[in-house]
Amino acid sequence: MGALSLAVVDGVARLTLDVSGEPVNTVSRAVRAEFEAHLDRLQSDAEIRAAILISRKPENFIAGADIGEFVALRTRDEALTLVRAGQLLTERLVSLGKPIVAAIHGACLGGGLEAALACSYRVASEHPKTMLGLPEVRLGIIPAAGGCQRLPRLIGLRSALDIILNGKTLRAEQALKQGLIDELVHPSILEEVALQAAARLADGWRPKRPRGGIPGLLLDRSHPGQAVVFSRARRSVIKKTGGHYPAPLAALEAVEHGLKYGITAGLDCEAAHFAELAVGEVSKQLVQVFFATSALKKDPGVEGKVPEAKAVVNVAVIGAGFMGSAIAGVAVAEAKSDVRLRDTTLDVVARSVATARSSLESRYQRGQITKHEFDQRRYLLSGGTDWAGFGRADLVIEAVFEDLEVKQKVCRAAEDVTGSECIIASNTSTIPIGRIAAAVRRPQQMIGMHFFSPAEQMPLLEVIVTDKTAPWVTASAVAFGRALGKTVIVVQDRPGFWVNRILAPYLNEAGRLLKEGVPIETLDETMTEFGFPVGPIALMDEIGLDVVLKASAVLHDAYGDRMRPTDGLELMTEQGRMGRKSGRGFYSYGKGRGKVDRAVYEIMSAAHESSVPHDDIRSRLVYAMLNEAARALDDEVVRSARDGDIGAILGMGFPPFRGGPLRHLDTVGIATAVTALEELTARYGSRFAPAHILKKMSANSERYYTNL
Ligand code: NAI
Repeated sequence: MGALSLAVVDGVARLTLDVSGEPVNTVSRAVRAEFEAHLDRLQSDAEIRAAILISRKPENFIAGADIGEFVALRTRDEALTLVRAGQLLTERLVSLGKPIVAAIHGACLGGGLEAALACSYRVASEHPKTMLGLPEVRLGIIPAAGGCQRLPRLIGLRSALDIILNGKTLRAEQALKQGLIDELVHPSILEEVALQAAARLADGWRPKRPRGGIPGLLLDRSHPGQAVVFSRARRSVIKKTGGHYPAPLAALEAVEHGLKYGITAGLDCEAAHFAELAVGEVSKQLVQVFFATSALKKDPGVEGKVPEAKAVVNVAVIGAGFMGSAIAGVAVAEAKSDVRLRDTTLDVVARSVATARSSLESRYQRGQITKHEFDQRRYLLSGGTDWAGFGRADLVIEAVFEDLEVKQKVCRAAEDVTGSECIIASNTSTIPIGRIAAAVRRPQQMIGMHFFSPAEQMPLLEVIVTDKTAPWVTASAVAFGRALGKTVIVVQDRPGFWVNRILAPYLNEAGRLLKEGVPIETLDETMTEFGFPVGPIALMDEIGLDVVLKASAVLHDAYGDRMRPTDGLELMTEQGRMGRKSGRGFYSYGKGRGKVDRAVYEIMSAAHESSVPHDDIRSRLVYAMLNEAARALDDEVVRSARDGDIGAILGMGFPPFRGGPLRHLDTVGIATAVTALEELTARYGSRFAPAHILKKMSANSERYYTNL
């Protein structure tokens, strides 16, 4: 059966897209060919005066081009042929000679939005699933079916650049505000409104649109104004990408070229850049990250027969501090859970409820949720100092002080006041879940849910299972984590879990280099140049030096000398230097960015001058992490290299364009990595001894991934 069907009523054609056997519509070669044939008919049939383009999928308009065809591209020429075909199709929509209205319900992304932009009019449904955007740069490519040309002409240069350069997706209401769509209607009348608009357009009606989007913006329209916008955007892209991601700059050029020399020249520029980027290294890595993250979204988190996940509706959080209140806020905002918070004083509870509500309010103000959703959700949150409401909890998450006895006590007490099927999760960052579970009566229902700070923003959740955790409990925690909008990796209950374990040797090494006299700026710049969003010293300040100290002591205990923490951190914390949260750590924080505090060198007894060659700074830092990642995967802390890589990217900002630590080992070459580690061992000590598994893989010429 074809993907498209055409019906004509009263001179208006309804072109319906429904790619069979797929949950979403994507545009493949076959679909494109069908499209072309239908456009021939639309053009030649004199009875047809106008048309609408609509999808039959319950929650999707067009998700984009067929990514399978895209990843199969091997040469620049193949990529060029593909992109030209896409451009041809959108060009045909534009020059149809008859009005065509896009009736958008569900995701309208990438090539889907470019098709809609090529239509004469856009009506969208008022529905949370209706999202419009151009996420191409996230895959290392650019919108190249006219998106870089038509979007700025429709909504104005600055709004268009914001969407294209950041790979942004808008909800339907925001899209209406920005002029991306013409009308917003209830889903039940979408088709009818689109048909009426098509008929009116055929009768000569012209919708009034502010030219170039928001009216009166000189910057968007005049040539000198545009020049200012482009130069600002270029500077900001370079700063953000550190030169590692070529796509945003290419997109910027395609937009600029088109505005200067016209759409045809702009399309040529889009096509040339697309072809180059599509077969480039960065795009290939980003696509793999995308595939891995998508696969994780469907992964139930347990092997073999998958038990049914328990529906988590009522959540109780113990400890309404920094993490507890953030977790409660996310549960309400994302999962629409009914949340009960508990702490030792009403003051703390009240503050925490207020914080969670104000974060909900700011979501509403940023247009992420509607007024109705805001009103509904803010009353889902309540709290107290007693156990009221715990009886109906499906899940309890404890986020009390990082102290084994306190945690054991609250978990045991929670068991007494909850139903027999309630799951109890700990948000501990360092304490083995098994040790907390030793104090409860139902250890099979105890699990770790390790959120990262700030919990509202950080996309990763480590779900930690002990050898006693029941599979249905794991499946339920994973499903709930996903409902919170997190990417979830399932991790074994070993000290440091995954993220902190591979982070520790890296941070320790940074501390050691600092003591050897390497300036803080050099350390941080070396790693931001490698692609991390912040360097290791600034990262310690973000995490909190007290937290780093606590975690590194646990890891030192567990793994011995190779995890020996940096001397001097205690002295820092004794002086109240806890990092950003206390206003000073290695940096001192006034308003805005921190400045290196020179007094720190004295406190840390750092050498006055460093003799460490520059290349060694980078390899010591990077290999400390890669080696530990190899070891931890070999210990089966994570279930696969895929989980480990995504965990590192989302949990600590490992550069996505390098694909994660394990994929990066593949890129470097396992044998090369072993040689480098052996050299570092000879020069700097046994902590660099290559992981056994790396030596074995090197001897057998193995790699972590077979693709790429
Ligand atoms: P916090 O000190 O801000 O909050 C702890 C809260 O627990 C306080 O409000 C305290 O009054 C309350 N509390 C203590 N004993 C209690 C009891 N018996 N009953 C009820 N409430 C009690 O600490 P934070 O930073 O929120 O950390 C909480 C947990 O989250 C710790 O286990 C920590 O390791 C973990 N964590 C912290 C991260 C961070 O970046 N701060 C990141 C990930 C995990």
